[in-house]
Amino acid sequence: MMQHRVTRQLLSWYDENQRELPWRGTTDPYLIWVSEIILQQTRVAQGWDYYVRFTRRFPNVEKLANASEEEVLKLWQGLGYYSRARNLHAAAKDIMNRFNGQFPTRYPDILSLKGIGEYTAAAISSIAFNEPHAAIDGNVLRVIARLFKIEEPVQSTRGKRIIKELVEALLPEERPGTFNQALMDLGSLLCMPRQPKCDDCPLTDSCMAHASGRTDELPIRLKRRKAKKRYFTYLHIQQGGCIYIQQRTGNDIWRNLYEFPLIETDKPIELSELLHNDEYNRLLGEITSLSIDGPFIYKHLLTHQQIHANFYRVTLEKGTVHTLQNQYVQIAEEEMKRYPISRLMHKYLETNSPK
Ligand code: ADE
Repeated sequence: MMQHRVTRQLLSWYDENQRELPWRGTTDPYLIWVSEIILQQTRVAQGWDYYVRFTRRFPNVEKLANASEEEVLKLWQGLGYYSRARNLHAAAKDIMNRFNGQFPTRYPDILSLKGIGEYTAAAISSIAFNEPHAAIDGNVLRVIARLFKIEEPVQSTRGKRIIKELVEALLPEERPGTFNQALMDLGSLLCMPRQPKCDDCPLTDSCMAHASGRTDELPIRLKRRKAKKRYFTYLHIQQGGCIYIQQRTGNDIWRNLYEFPLIETDKPIELSELLHNDEYNRLLGEITSLSIDGPFIYKHLLTHQQIHANFYRVTLEKGTVHTLQNQYVQIAEEEMKRYPISRLMHKYLETNSPK
């Protein structure tokens, strides 16, 4: 079949200019899967070392399936969005059971794995198995919306459908995985959200947004749903080298991760109000000899939540009697690094844990 001019130009640009990334040059579907999951909400520069460490420790499906969830989460420490790691782990076990430990080769089987959506299934099947599926991520949406001057919002059902059809029309039978990655690289190296480098772009002559001076306005994005604001007060309670932590449960953020005793309020709360808070008084109200340091303030952004966190360092004298150990896990402070924690806790501890 004839290749579209755009496809030819893109592929020859990629042959010269592709990024050298640790997961390029492999066709092992397991490794490609891990790389795609890490890159879902993480930049390449940040994901790089995580990918190397993760695949060194778990070089194949079986090693990952046999690991404990704690260890998997621990290797994910600092990347955030831990459900990605949990799903990877669950899917590895599923592959052991349903597919005898062999990574499935058929697109519908790949899509049936936990945590794998259309994008990831298309990326794996095109890169590992040369199957003609269009892998459409944010970069690709932007490149295509500009190239064909799509005025439809790119996240709308109609916008997504139009773009998918266009990518499928351009997708070469020979090297679909290369083509998909070429579009991603073009999107991140040249066709950036702001100040795209049109002068260096191999597709400028074909780009309808460029021809009509619309690159800055495209793609059209729908307004984001407003992030919910939450107010967390964390108590970093220290007593003779020990601290108190708990494991989060339920269906909220950070399930199964560890954190300090937490008081959540529906408004911001200052120290003077904290001292009158019921939850605070239930924990520490009886104790007269304590010193409080803080707040140490951190703002943490998740996709749909804005966490405003105040950390207080509460120091108790050695012999002080309390019942914190009934509700919380008491650990030596230096043991904290063995527990999987949220990125927010991680940020706080980076600057506030004893060296
Ligand atoms: N982002 C997500 N997957 C990628 C890939 N395979 N290459 C480059 N950037 C990516």
